[in-house]
Amino acid sequence: MNLLGIDIGGTGIKGAPVNPDTGELLAERFRLDTPQPAKPADVARVTRQVMDHFGGGIDRVGITFPGIVKSGVVRSAANMDQEWVNLDAGRLFVQALGAPTAVMNDADAAGVAEMHFGAGQGVHGVVLMVTLGTGIGSALFLDGKLVPNTEFGHIEIRGKDAEKRASERVRETKELPWKKWGASVGEYLARMEALLSPDLIIIGGGVSKKADKFFPFVKEHVTAPLAAAKLQNEAGIVGAAFLARSPG
Ligand code: BGC
Repeated sequence: MNLLGIDIGGTGIKGAPVNPDTGELLAERFRLDTPQPAKPADVARVTRQVMDHFGGGIDRVGITFPGIVKSGVVRSAANMDQEWVNLDAGRLFVQALGAPTAVMNDADAAGVAEMHFGAGQGVHGVVLMVTLGTGIGSALFLDGKLVPNTEFGHIEIRGKDAEKRASERVRETKELPWKKWGASVGEYLARMEALLSPDLIIIGGGVSKKADKFFPFVKEHVTAPLAAAKLQNEAGIVGAAFLARSPG
C-alpha cells in the first residue's frame, strides 16, 4: 500500500511517502508555505499540491493538524484560522485529495512515530512527548498506547498558557538566550512531571536538533529521563502515514 504523510503546521505544509514498516521516507520531503490566513479551503488546496508533487498511485493519506481532532472533526485550532473549529476536516481532505484520508493531531502523530521508530521504541510505562514549535503539542502513552488529544501545551504556568512561555516561537520572537528559555521549558516539564510521573519525556519539534544547547538547563528542573526526538522534523509525516494504514 502506498502511504503519504502530510504534516500541516502554522508556517509550512510538508509531505512525503513513507514506508510504514520501517518509518523511512521513500522520497525527499516536499514543503510549501501554509497560506495566510490559513483558511480551510486554501490549506486543502496547498495540501493537494503537496500530494501532486509525488505523482499518482497513492492509496491513503495521513494528515496532521495542529489542534484537537476527533473522528476527523477539528475541535480546536489555537494557532490556525478559527474557521477550522468544528469543521469536518476528514471530509474536506477526502474531497480535496480524492483519496482516503486519516486526520489527526500533529503531536499525537509525532509521538506515535517516536514510539515506533524513534526515542520511545520499546519503552514501557508512561511516556510523555512534547513538541516545541509554534505552540506546544503533547502526546501521552501508556505501554505504547496513545491517549489522544491531550493538549498539555495549554496548562497554565503562573497565570499564562504554557505555550506562551516555553514554545520555540517564544524563544525566537523574544530572542531568548538558551539558558533562559531552557529554564522555562524546565519549569513547564517539572509541572508535567509532578502531574504524570512519566518514565520518559521525549522533546520534539525542529528545536530538538539543538538539544545540546538547552537540555542542560531543562535537566536542572526535571528528574525523569529526557530524550530528544530522533525523527525530528519528519516525525509528523511518518506518524501520519503510519496511522493512515488502516481505515477508522
Ligand atoms: C494545539 C495542539 C497542537 C500544538 C502543536 C497547540 O496550540 O492546541 O493541538 O498539537 O499546538 O502544534
